[in-house]
Parts: sequence; C-alpha cells; structure tokens
Amino acid sequence: MADKVIVEGMARVVVPEGVFYNPLARFSRSFAIPILAMESSIRGRELIVGDLMAASGVRGIRYFLESGCVSEVWFNDRSRRAFDTIKLNVRENGVDGRVFNMDVRALLYSDALYKLDFIDIDPFGTPSPYIDSAVAAVREGGLVVLTATDLTALCGLYPRAAFRKYFSVVRKTWFCHEVALRVLIYSCLVAAGRHDRYIEPVISVFTEQYARVYLRVREGKIRYPYGSVGFILYREGESIDVAPLKSIGGEASIEKGVMVIGPMWIGPLHNNDFIDGIFDRELFNRIAVEGDRLRAAKLLKVMRGEADLPPYYYDIHKLSSMVGISPPPVDKVIRLLVDAGYRVSRTQFSGHGLKTDCSLSDFLDLLRGLPR
Ligand SMILES: C[S@@+](CC[C@H](N)C(=O)[O-])C[C@H]1O[C@@H](n2cnc3c(N)ncnc32)[C@H](O)[C@@H]1O
Repeated sequence: MADKVIVEGMARVVVPEGVFYNPLARFSRSFAIPILAMESSIRGRELIVGDLMAASGVRGIRYFLESGCVSEVWFNDRSRRAFDTIKLNVRENGVDGRVFNMDVRALLYSDALYKLDFIDIDPFGTPSPYIDSAVAAVREGGLVVLTATDLTALCGLYPRAAFRKYFSVVRKTWFCHEVALRVLIYSCLVAAGRHDRYIEPVISVFTEQYARVYLRVREGKIRYPYGSVGFILYREGESIDVAPLKSIGGEASIEKGVMVIGPMWIGPLHNNDFIDGIFDRELFNRIAVEGDRLRAAKLLKVMRGEADLPPYYYDIHKLSSMVGISPPPVDKVIRLLVDAGYRVSRTQFSGHGLKTDCSLSDFLDLLRGLPR
C-alpha cells in the first residue's frame, strides 16, 4: 500500500502503513501552539520541546513551524518504523532537532533529563506509566503535557482501572468529565511530590476523545499545594460538597448515603493570567488551521469563565429531570442564576452544563420555581 501524504497546518508529512496518524487529534495539536507561544513569551526565550511519542512527527513539526518560538524539537518513538518516518518528515519540513528510537521513560531519565522546557506525552490509552518520568525530567518551571484517552476509566465506567492507574475512587456521575481531568492532575501531583516537585495546572482540556492537561512543574516542598487535594461528596439529587483532604477525619464527617469521589485536584483547572496573556497577544492567530484558530479562541474564553468556580458542574438536562420539568434554554438558566446573585459560567464539559457557586439544592429550587 502506498504511503499517505498528509497536509496539516504548515506541516506536510508522509504517513506509511503502520505509523499512527489520527485526523481527529488535529485540534489537540493546533491548541498547543498558542500555549507554546505564551510560554515562550513568559520565559523571554525560545523553547526546547519534546514530542516524545511522536508517531509521524506531525505534532512537533507543527509546533516548530507554527508557534514561532521553538528553537529545537526532540522527537522520539519506540517503533522503528515511526522513527524512520519521523527522520524523513523532520528533514523534509526543515525542522531543527533530534530524533530518538527509545522507550520514552529511558529517554527522559537519560539524554533528556532536565533539558526540555515542554514535554508532550501522547500515548494510546493511559499516560500513567509515563507520568513519573515526565514530571521528574522536565526542566524546573517547565510544562508537562499529558493526553489520556482511557476515558472509560477516568470517567468512572471502570472504577477498578481508575484506582489501579490513578489511585483514586472514581464514580460515574453527570459531572464525571470534570472529575476525569481532576483525577489525572492529582495523579501528576502525587508523582511530582516523589521528586520534591509539585505541579500547577495551566490549562486542562476535556473532549469526547481525550483528557489533556498542561501542567507547570516546580521544585520544592514548602509550596506543595496540600489544600488543593480533596474529595467531592455527592448525595444523589440532594447535595454536592467539596472536602479538602486535610479536613477528612477532622471537622468533615461522611454521612451514610454520600458518594465519596477522589482524591482529586480541587484547585483551579486553568491559570487565568496565562489565558489572558494569550488573548492580549492574540496568540491563537499562530495556528495555521483557520477553523482551529476560531475554536481555540472560543474554548479559551469558556475556560477563562470556568476557572475559579467550584470543582464540578451542573447538567441542566439532568437537573431538569430531577424536578420533573423539560430542560429550559441554557441562557434562560444563566439569567435566572445571575438575577439571584450567583456567579455562573458555561463550561467546556457540556453544551448544557453550567458552573456556578449556587448549591445543588438551591439550583433545584430555582428550577422548580420556573413556570411550567
Ligand atoms: C497515539 S500515538 C502518537 C500520535 C502523535 N503524537 C500525533 O499527534 O500524531 C502513540 C505513539 O507512541 C509510541 N509509543 C508507545 N509506547 C511508547 C513508549 N513506551 N516509548 C516511546 N514511544 C511509545 C507508539 O509507537 C505510537 O507511535
């Protein structure tokens, strides 16, 4: 079978049979470009980037060609065929960098140790086997980016798998998509702690295909964010509460009938100063795929709104069925909440989802008060 030639953004790559390329992941590649550009502007220099599970190399090639801020890309894939393909594609696209054919963990603990500013780990399924080496090896203050496609585990369909891979108790609820991101971030924080490091989420993305987190990794013990780890306590149809880990066994007691979900990251999913910087500099314009440019700007706007609201969201369809009404338009519910004095934002997790500081029982009462 003839090799495929793919044009994506500014990259033109050959993809032979047996080398992975997923056109549906194009937006995930595009979205990283303004983030790289913002990171370089914070650091005041160009970045050295690792595309360490690279397949055809399309991701790292686009980062180099489109972000305008990458001095060098280190590519890696343990498949020999992928390695040969990357070498060819890197040469043909005029990218500066190095190409390796290693297990990513071996590379991170050897040649790549403390050399990379931005490490992108994009496996099939779970990233959990690679988290430890990535957070240990990135340069101090650099970004580790992890994709997870094992959403059935992270969203609580397979709680045993989630427990094994992420050491958290995950349940299937209507807000499980957000829990998925929070459990992934928590497991990175746990790994970082083993190396006297900690993480700060910069941007966290959930789509139907993947969860993807951009985390800043810092050195130190004193600023470890103990207060940002905790549980969600959910009583079906009645209440959702957040319990920081340090309160368990102290003032918080867990009543019968409460679903305990976690531990997980309960701090902000995104850094709004970082997002504001992308908007100020209009960095999404660096994305060469026009549709993705618009989608990235829209998504960042939603993230900006949801960042500092409680660590769960409400699904209007689900809540409407709880009170026996047909779902009202989302804009109408937003007005209702704002008029009642609550903060409210749309969310990336669902077109009919809202984040707000209104409690579940008050939200249900507001819906009950709507004319039938
Ligand atoms: C989902 S694909 C990567 C797709 C690519 N990042 C993109 O955007 O097109 C995962 C790649 O990781 C490689 N891989 C799997 N396990 C690996 C490991 N332990 N070390 C290095 N590469 C690995 C596979 O050969 C495969 O090419």
